[in-house]
Amino acid sequence: DERRERMSEATQKPEIYKGLVGVYADVSSISKVMPETNSLTYRGYAVQDLAENCSFEEVAYLLWEGELPTAAQLAAFREETASQREITPALHRVIREFPKDAHPMDSIRTAVSFMGLEDPETGDVSEAAQYRKAKRLFAKIPTAIGATYRAAKGLDPVAPNPAHSFAENVFNLVQGRVPEPEVLKAFDVSMILYAEHTFNASTYTARLVTSTGADMHGAITAGIAALKGPLHGGANEAVMHMLKEIGDPAVAKEWLQSRFDHRALVMGFGHRVYKSGDSRVPTMKKYAEKMAEVVGDRTWMEISRILAAEMLEKKNIHPNLDFPAGPAYHLMGFEIPLFTPLFVASRVTGWSAHVLEQQADNRLIRPLSWYTGKEQRPVPAMAAR
Ligand code: ACO
Repeated sequence: DERRERMSEATQKPEIYKGLVGVYADVSSISKVMPETNSLTYRGYAVQDLAENCSFEEVAYLLWEGELPTAAQLAAFREETASQREITPALHRVIREFPKDAHPMDSIRTAVSFMGLEDPETGDVSEAAQYRKAKRLFAKIPTAIGATYRAAKGLDPVAPNPAHSFAENVFNLVQGRVPEPEVLKAFDVSMILYAEHTFNASTYTARLVTSTGADMHGAITAGIAALKGPLHGGANEAVMHMLKEIGDPAVAKEWLQSRFDHRALVMGFGHRVYKSGDSRVPTMKKYAEKMAEVVGDRTWMEISRILAAEMLEKKNIHPNLDFPAGPAYHLMGFEIPLFTPLFVASRVTGWSAHVLEQQADNRLIRPLSWYTGKEQRPVPAMAAR
């Protein structure tokens, strides 16, 4: 009987959690998402509170260290990371060899992988070395984004200025200019909101890679690969393509109806965890509206307003962070293929905080699959196939 029971356990299909929906895969003390109240905290602080009151550098420090920095700690952190922004001549040469039409997400993934080849501590997975590598990546990723973007346009790279804040640095490296304070603030807010979000697909990817004992550059390269997809980070680009395709608020409803008729996804809407609103949207929307005012172009926010109202009324689906971030980046003067790389510049903080958390209490991540293929059979001779 016992044997029969064991046999039936082995042959009865277990519950399959496709997409790992609703599965708690581990504990974490980095961030907490509370869909019932549409809220999100990083190390206990509400994201909207951080966005209004802190710089992105303070939030990066918070994610890694667990506490907000004092003025002296922040100054030291800024100095340490700002002094590491340069990328090597070898990486600049490699970047110049990238195909001009490469997607910037593929370019930044390759550049980060190359940084792993060059990093003096790549193979050292001690906690201290991994943290140092995280800070180097945080410092260098914007430089690589700027260099790849400019190389594809035949422009020389801009050298990072260590006196610049994180936000000033990104604009300078990509656009060769530092915009007005309202624009910098809106960008900084986007970086804060994008920095961390529990076990999303790219973060879980980084943790999974780490669980094998692999190093920081490997985990972050894999995280970037996962973020590119349109169901995840790639959605901020897709949102702007969609807004441009609609082009005119007068046709927004009609356009959306055609999406409904084709049962097509509407990018920037829906979320695996939030079903009644994304905690980050109100703050990002407020700053996207400010960008529309600064630029004097309300078209995108007006189309967005109509889409959001219709999606809620007809489908009861709310926008996610990518929905206001897409037009905000466009209004800040970034080209669409850079939107997801900008997400990388921010999320590298959350990814690496999770890498450090995973390795501090590691167990190899290795789920099971329920086999539905062919029954076991003999290998036929070549002539009999
Ligand atoms: N447009 C139209 N319908 C949608 C959308 C959408 N954007 N999102 C969900 N739905 C529908 C689904 O088709 C499904 O309908 P059904 O029950 O009739 O089949 C229902 O809403 C429930 O959605 P799920 O598929 O269960 O949602 P899931 O949790 O699997 O997927 C996801 C979440 C991938 C984010 C999905 O909403 C989506 O594809 N959205 C568009 C892409 C996007 O904006 N991604 C960004 C995510 S946020 C981020 O990465 C920062």
